[in-house]
Amino acid sequence: MNGKINEKKIKRLFFFLKALVILLFLAVLSLAGNIFLQNFAVHSTKSNNAPKAFVKIDSNFTSLWTAPSDWRLMRLSPKEQQQIKYGRELIAHTSQYLGPKGSVAATSNGMNCQNCHLNAGTQPWGNNYFAVEANYPKFRARSGTVENQVKRINDCFERSLNGKALDSASKEMQAMLAYIKWVGTDVPKKKTPKGTGIFKIKGLARATDPEKGHLIYAQKCQSCHQANGEGVIANDGKSYLYPPLWGKNSYNTGAGLYRISNFAGYVKLNMPLGVTYERPQLTDEEAWDIAAFVNSMPRPAKDLSNDWPDIAAKPFDHPFGPYADPFSEKQHKYGPYKPIKEWKEAHRK
Ligand code: HEC
Ligand code: HEC
Repeated sequence: MNGKINEKKIKRLFFFLKALVILLFLAVLSLAGNIFLQNFAVHSTKSNNAPKAFVKIDSNFTSLWTAPSDWRLMRLSPKEQQQIKYGRELIAHTSQYLGPKGSVAATSNGMNCQNCHLNAGTQPWGNNYFAVEANYPKFRARSGTVENQVKRINDCFERSLNGKALDSASKEMQAMLAYIKWVGTDVPKKKTPKGTGIFKIKGLARATDPEKGHLIYAQKCQSCHQANGEGVIANDGKSYLYPPLWGKNSYNTGAGLYRISNFAGYVKLNMPLGVTYERPQLTDEEAWDIAAFVNSMPRPAKDLSNDWPDIAAKPFDHPFGPYADPFSEKQHKYGPYKPIKEWKEAHRK
């Protein structure tokens, strides 16, 4: 009895062992086949599409910061909500309240903050306010002082809107401050999120060329901003449909856009109206040349005698001397900028 049972057991064991060996064999075979196929496939693509160049994704244009959604306003008190909304309204439609025919006071040129701070200062690379609350008060070399948000807003009133400063206690200033703070929600102190402000456009090896810029202006900008650069007033007579780029109602010579690099960076990713950083239309060269053309045209002058107490801190494209370096006003304004940047680098304290 015992011998028979053992024989049966051993037979069964052999059967299992055989099955196991066959299974293992099949597994090894399919693995080898897979490896072979994979290698073969890799080889075949390689030989078909020769050395394939990698398109490196430019991280300047991916996952950019955005402003808080409107629904989050519901978390605030009705009073706070109202103030923030009034601030946004003032930034989007400044001229209705503070332009030459403004309902609150006639203290600015008819432009809106939003003309240059797109979507009320929330457009990535559209000169937004993402980093304002997190970084002000801060030292600014233009004034040589620590500036708070009120001073910074009034800088734009006095320069970009060629107007008067607002009283810091006024309802309007308080509303704008509240709104700008709101736009900066969630931005950690001292941090500047990706997509903040104006994009720093790549340098140009040659000098900018206002004449070339004029030609492109005629093709791509003139239909809205007009041949005389003065824009188009809306039917209500209070605001601009297309804001002025030069002339008596435009930004003055102390404004940020009067620096050609700022203008070029703003326009490259935001104009003609409708383009965004995702679908720009101008080449870098075109943006530089249009900037040179527009900023060669007449506009209101600002007394800048108190600006840049440390002349060595003037940016490379600040168009007014005296300078710490040996380059002319013309070269500072129109370039070539590279020698100026190199000189600055070599003489950095
Ligand atoms: C003609 C264009 C223009 C208009 C109009 C304009 N600004 Fe500006 N603003 C600029 C530019 C350009 C800068 C950036 C300057 C620089 O970086 O040198 C700027 C910067 C600012 C900043 C600082 C941003 C930062 O991150 O440091 C604030 C705040 C600001 N503007 C508020 C306003 C307000 C409020 C108004 C309306 C009362 C306004 N601006 C109207 C062009 C404009
Ligand atoms: C389809 C009409 C249109 C075209 C074309 C156009 N713009 Fe604009 N531009 C606008 C409008 C509208 C604004 C104001 C945007 C806002 O308030 O939201 C503006 C604002 C601006 C501003 C800031 C405000 C100011 O007046 O300084 C600049 C600078 C500017 N455009 C330059 C250009 C340049 C350069 C071109 C050509 C490459 C161009 N635009 C083409 C409609 C246009």
